[in-house]
Amino acid sequence: DTPDAVAPQLLAWYDRHARALAWRSPPGAPPPDPYAVWLSEVMLQQTTTVAAAPFFRRFLERWPTVEALAAARDDDVMAAWAGLGYYARARNLLACARAVTQGGAGFPDTEAALRDLPGIGDYTAAAVAAIAFDRPATVVDGNIERVVSRLFAVADPLPGAKARLRTLAATLTPDRRPGDYAQAMMDLGATICTPRSPKCMICPLHLLCAGRASGAPERFPVKAAK
Ligand code: ADE
Repeated sequence: DTPDAVAPQLLAWYDRHARALAWRSPPGAPPPDPYAVWLSEVMLQQTTTVAAAPFFRRFLERWPTVEALAAARDDDVMAAWAGLGYYARARNLLACARAVTQGGAGFPDTEAALRDLPGIGDYTAAAVAAIAFDRPATVVDGNIERVVSRLFAVADPLPGAKARLRTLAATLTPDRRPGDYAQAMMDLGATICTPRSPKCMICPLHLLCAGRASGAPERFPVKAAK
């Protein structure tokens, strides 16, 4: 049925069409350093992939490890963050780097333990667990809510439908290659299942998509009247 068919279709598409992004390993390759994954996900909470890339490169060049970042001067990190905005994020970044290096164990490898770190919420915990540690964590952001709402033609409106969309998203998460799967969902939402004019003609999931079958996928996600 639909949930079981989604991951294999999406992964086959990702193998051919994954975006080459600075913080990524190619499809099927071993995951990148958890520090790089975490740093990129914190940056990407507030900015586009294009805007984040030069900041990501500069940070990794200057502070190549989480230990190096933890030892940085606060002012230097704040100055390097300038341009990304939301300074609370930069403060949490440092607090997290210092918490991770404190025990000497490095980044924890489960979603629950990651969530206990400063500045790491549900989204970042799931993204790091999936991408850096290949755990079958379900990553949900606005793009993924849109993809899932269309796949299942969810008629209840946001924001009330959020819990339902999360549950549905979890039914799709595979045990095999969950990190590539999470990034494939992100790429699908960013490049094909876009808000206004989804490119269903080239979508790897179009035969599985109830929104597409309805004839008007752009209606989803339904939003509550203001
Ligand atoms: N947006 C947030 N995280 C991302 C990632 N790992 N790849 C692409 N887009 C993203």
